[in-house]
Amino acid sequence: MNATIKLEKNHFPVMLNELIDIISPLYGGTFIDCTLGQGGYTSRILNQKNNEVIALDRDKAAIKIANKLKLKFGNRFKFKNFKFSDIDQISIEQNKIKGIIYDLGFSLNQINDQEKKISFNSKGSLDMRLGINDFSANEVIHQLSEKELSLIFKVLGEENMHKIIAKKIVKEREKKALHTEDLVKIIDTIKRKKKQKIHNSTKVFQSLRMFVNNEISELINGLINGFKILPIGGVMVVVTFHSLEDKITKYFFKNYSEEKNLSRYLPESSVEQKILKLIEKKPILPSKHEISINPPSRSAKLRYAFKIKNNLDFEKFKNKFKYLLDIENISRVL
Ligand SMILES: C[S@@+](CC[C@H](N)C(=O)[O-])C[C@H]1O[C@@H](n2cnc3c(N)ncnc32)[C@H](O)[C@@H]1O
Repeated sequence: MNATIKLEKNHFPVMLNELIDIISPLYGGTFIDCTLGQGGYTSRILNQKNNEVIALDRDKAAIKIANKLKLKFGNRFKFKNFKFSDIDQISIEQNKIKGIIYDLGFSLNQINDQEKKISFNSKGSLDMRLGINDFSANEVIHQLSEKELSLIFKVLGEENMHKIIAKKIVKEREKKALHTEDLVKIIDTIKRKKKQKIHNSTKVFQSLRMFVNNEISELINGLINGFKILPIGGVMVVVTFHSLEDKITKYFFKNYSEEKNLSRYLPESSVEQKILKLIEKKPILPSKHEISINPPSRSAKLRYAFKIKNNLDFEKFKNKFKYLLDIENISRVL
């Protein structure tokens, strides 16, 4: 790869060439990189001298990367330690924006960060906060009810053994405060006899990380607010890593790229207008070569769409995923 700043060892920006192929016809303007991470996408975009990037990342650790990029690219690069759901709060000349990019989830650096405690290999009390959060996974595990925990594991983690895991957590937390290793042990004991392709704790840990970081509402509001500030002709590119993220992104792109007459008995004005143009209906997947050098990329899916019209009402989109937003709302008691 030919990014001009040296990236952290073992950092492979997922589907970088595919992303560049999509956005390069639009070069010569401002791109918003909603998820700076290690700066892989941003530095490649800035290699082209007529581009500017405004990057966001909720993690304070990204400030260090941002400072390096600032030194290298000067005024063509700006950074905000923001959540991307707040993308519409950035002050920017809207008609300059050519594209908005979301590379969801977390980076290898974050998973190896012993303070964030995202991984089931961490030690001590659970945390999982990526940055700008209201509560930690430790509070979730110790303060929510058995029913609430079970629902989080079931829906956000798609964990089949959600009920029994939640029950055991509630029983064990009465004896002592649970640490990461205790949670892993509880799950291992329950899933002992099952032969799993993935680590026994993957699904429960994923659901807790999503819950702590409000990943569902971040994505829904991030897409809506990104769409609002994107001028017509601009592109939105989203890279997802698990089924719920992809389901939300696919629905947003597909639903708003089709013209639908809600009922033939209703007047013409009730036709739901196309506001996005999809070039490819199917997601772009990483090549075999990319998966061989960066195995975690195997679950990535890239979708993109161009804005063709403005829209002010996204109620249907929000209602479609209300059942997920309601689960996030459980956190109001914390
Ligand atoms: C997969 S990494 C991005 C990697 C990046 N594309 C690169 O090339 O280095 C995801 C990044 O998004 C950040 N992030 C996740 N959710 C976010 C949100 N809602 N708002 C802002 N940043 C977020 C994480 O902190 C992490 O640094």
